[in-house]
Amino acid sequence: MSSSPKSRGLFFAGNWKMNHTPREAAAFFEEVEKGWPSEKKMSPDLKLALYTPTLTLTEARAICQKQKLPIQIGAQNAHWEKSGAFTGEISGPMLKEAGIESVLIGHSERRQLFGETNDTVHKRTRGLLNQGFSVLMCIGETREQREDKLTGQVLIEQLSRGIPVPSEVSTPYLNGRLAIAYEPVWAIGTGLVATPEQAEEAHAIIRQFLEMQLGSEAATQTPILYGGSVTAENFDTLMKCPNVDGALVGGASLKASSYLSLLKKALHLLEA
Ligand code: PGA
Repeated sequence: MSSSPKSRGLFFAGNWKMNHTPREAAAFFEEVEKGWPSEKKMSPDLKLALYTPTLTLTEARAICQKQKLPIQIGAQNAHWEKSGAFTGEISGPMLKEAGIESVLIGHSERRQLFGETNDTVHKRTRGLLNQGFSVLMCIGETREQREDKLTGQVLIEQLSRGIPVPSEVSTPYLNGRLAIAYEPVWAIGTGLVATPEQAEEAHAIIRQFLEMQLGSEAATQTPILYGGSVTAENFDTLMKCPNVDGALVGGASLKASSYLSLLKKALHLLEA
């Protein structure tokens, strides 16, 4: 990746939240395919993922495979156990059978609305890494915590209690299977985006923590994504920050037109 202006490449992930039925997903991909930049052109330095609702996973993955769209389809949550009495949860083996290899864990909506804690984030991250999944773990402070100057402390706590130490993970850890999304809660779905300075400051804290906890090789390899009101308009300035390795995008990943605008921005940035 040495020729890329981003040393770790770029990771553009979409989070559909509870939007898009399988039929709506099919319409989305049809439009995306039509607007895809020249002949499915793709930079080797750009990684694409879309976290869809559970019932949409199979359809979305099948379409991407059929249309040769290089988008990895991922789940928005999964349990740490492989099976059992956990009504309403989905397991790693279920996802694997559906061909899904990547899971979003600890999104602030799960934390704030569904009782997810640092402890359950840790269990899910550890369990799923041990089952061979890629995990995109989300952290971020609330508006009150930022106003109280607690951002750094909150991030360190979420990281130290959420990320398994290497001895807890039996499968090889250092192959890019862990990624972190910094998503300030006050920026999610609000149109209030972090400034590049705020994002870079938070990402540098995260990188430093990863170095302490996992060593410098893992810290250098681990993509740290920014999320919270990312659009094609603010994408470039955020992505140019040295410690920002990509974006986790909610609202702007829902429509094919805005998805394609972001995709083009990402490709352009990597070409620069
Ligand atoms: P947003 O959501 O882009 O709509 O702010 C981001 C997210 O929740 O991952």
